[in-house]
Amino acid sequence: MEFVNIGFAGTGGIARSHARGLAEVPQARIVAAADVNEAAAGEFAVAQDVAQVATDYRAVLENPAVDAVIICLPHALHGPAAIAAAQAGKHVLCEKPLGVSVAECDAIIAACAAAQVNLMVGHTHRFMLEHLRALELLRAGAIGDVLHIHDSVTGATRHKDLGWRGVPALAGGGVFMDNGVHSADRLRWWIGSEVTAVTANIGHYGARTEGEDFGVAHLEFANGVTATMEISLIAAPAMGRCRAEVTGADGAMEIATWRHVKVTGAEDQEWETMTFPRDRSQFIREDGEFVMSILEQRAPSVTGEDGKRAVAIIQGIYQASASGERVRLQG
Ligand SMILES: NC(=O)c1ccc[n+]([C@@H]2O[C@H](COP(=O)([O-])OP(=O)(O)OC[C@H]3O[C@@H](n4cnc5c(N)ncnc54)[C@H](O)[C@@H]3O)[C@@H](O)[C@H]2O)c1
Repeated sequence: MEFVNIGFAGTGGIARSHARGLAEVPQARIVAAADVNEAAAGEFAVAQDVAQVATDYRAVLENPAVDAVIICLPHALHGPAAIAAAQAGKHVLCEKPLGVSVAECDAIIAACAAAQVNLMVGHTHRFMLEHLRALELLRAGAIGDVLHIHDSVTGATRHKDLGWRGVPALAGGGVFMDNGVHSADRLRWWIGSEVTAVTANIGHYGARTEGEDFGVAHLEFANGVTATMEISLIAAPAMGRCRAEVTGADGAMEIATWRHVKVTGAEDQEWETMTFPRDRSQFIREDGEFVMSILEQRAPSVTGEDGKRAVAIIQGIYQASASGERVRLQG
């Protein structure tokens, strides 16, 4: 196999980002695309010069020319589409969250294992240069042992029509399932350990969604590190940010997504700042990893298990907030 022929299920915003990424992956070809919105599918097909265009993603799964499918659908459709893709013998790159529950993630992982196809989850944050640099510095001990991370993903979208994202039956929840899942994944990745317990308080404060639009969660990791997650749709425009503040035993680090990584020592008064451009090159690396994992017949760097762990954290946050209890997770 020299090339991986890719089909898309869903051709909305993130599908266009993947297509731009795939354009820079010489071993990939986009050969099919489906979207229930015929105009969206048609525009995507023309832009990407795609041979097969359909309104039902099952047509893409039935196409023998398709080796792998990228699932870019509303969250509640990830499970049915990923399982159908695996059963059709297609490798799967599923956008985050992998599923809307841990049980659904298990079913997706089992279907891909049974079909012996690769399953990768679109945790894009792992492919951003500033995040990779931060990981490298943390692993090299630049700030000593990590003690705590405060991670905030706050959007200024209080007045925005969120479409399917505002309908929990389609989105699997509110802003935690949509954006909090990025935080859950990157915290696991940076901390290098699993969450064992969660407490949380989340709610609705006026954004145009039936799900939660703001909340804070406290995570305990097996290695003793703790983290707080602040996830919001209701930030003032000047306050919107995606930023992790890391407290280390010998210093601190600020990781501002699309902006910079700053490091300071325990006694220092100044930050050392490394700046990063706001480009979209993470999709080149992410889609490249998916394609090369297929060609090299190996597991991708972000697995179904990673996707499931992130969903388990979000599910734990929902349980903790609803019950007012500290919820234990499998570490
Ligand atoms: N990794 C990231 O940084 C990132 C960023 C944005 C979105 N996402 C994820 O990507 C996925 C899609 O989000 P989006 O922003 O592209 O949404 P979107 O609304 O722009 O696109 C979703 C598309 O799915 C289509 N669709 C809905 N039901 C369908 C069906 N039954 N069959 C075929 N097509 C159907 C819609 O018509 C739409 O074009 C979500 O899982 C989201 O969380 C990830």
